[in-house]
Amino acid sequence: MQLLDGRKVAKEMLLKLKNEVSGLEIHHILPKLAVILVGKNPASLSYIKQKQLACAETNIEWEQFDFEEDVTTAQLIQKIEELNMDETIHGILVQLPVPKHVYVPDVIRAIDPKKDVDGFTAYNLGKMFLSTDFEDLIPCTPLGIIKMIEHYKIPVEGKEVVVVGHSNIVGKPLATMFLNRNATVTVCHIHTKDLAFHTKRADILCVGVGKINLITADMVKDDAVVFDIGINRMENGKLCGDVDFENVSAKASYITPVPGGAGPMTVACLMLNTVHASKRLNNIP
Ligand code: GUN
Repeated sequence: MQLLDGRKVAKEMLLKLKNEVSGLEIHHILPKLAVILVGKNPASLSYIKQKQLACAETNIEWEQFDFEEDVTTAQLIQKIEELNMDETIHGILVQLPVPKHVYVPDVIRAIDPKKDVDGFTAYNLGKMFLSTDFEDLIPCTPLGIIKMIEHYKIPVEGKEVVVVGHSNIVGKPLATMFLNRNATVTVCHIHTKDLAFHTKRADILCVGVGKINLITADMVKDDAVVFDIGINRMENGKLCGDVDFENVSAKASYITPVPGGAGPMTVACLMLNTVHASKRLNNIP
């Protein structure tokens, strides 16, 4: 079994991006990310801290806009419209979740697709359906998985890929990217009748639903490649994924640890998208 070391791959990506950012200086471009946070959700605060550290590491500018829990959808849209117009801002991110009274589709729709570094707008999500050539600003977690696949040179074409979880920000875009790379893709979710039937057939198994020990060793094929995208906090306060790591790792050919797998890759891909957006907004290839 080989560990898919997200921390190591992310570190390499960040180093490359730092060099790329310094190369943009001669073009008078200083990539800048604007982050909107509503309330003080502890998980969101922790994610945001990781993103801010990665910005510091790559010399990407960071500006955070904090709103109280009672902010309205209209107020958030107004801030986003200001940021759309601001030429010094290249990426706009609204940290999710937001309180229930905020209507997320309207908030996301307000983001200029060129600054949509989370890849959540219908425009960017729709474009990736066409082919790899049209994958542009891609949601960061699925992009991080594909970057790890590339880094470890894991073959995809013709493979059976099973994605467990069908969210708009992880499962659906990840399945689409595997399909673009000519895998045979199955997407399982909360309504799937016999999860193990599907997961046992997977050459590449990706799981991101947020349920501790959802995937046990008997549900995994020998030598499968396993990406654990879940993040759960155990009673002892430690983080774990959705896969029973101890037993599944004995069977898998490759597996991501949690923490240290998909998480750091997500953050690195946000930096990648921000640098990409800053270049494209300034017509640099
Ligand atoms: N909440 C959980 N994951 C994400 C993410 O990738 N982006 C944003 N904006 N919010 C999140």
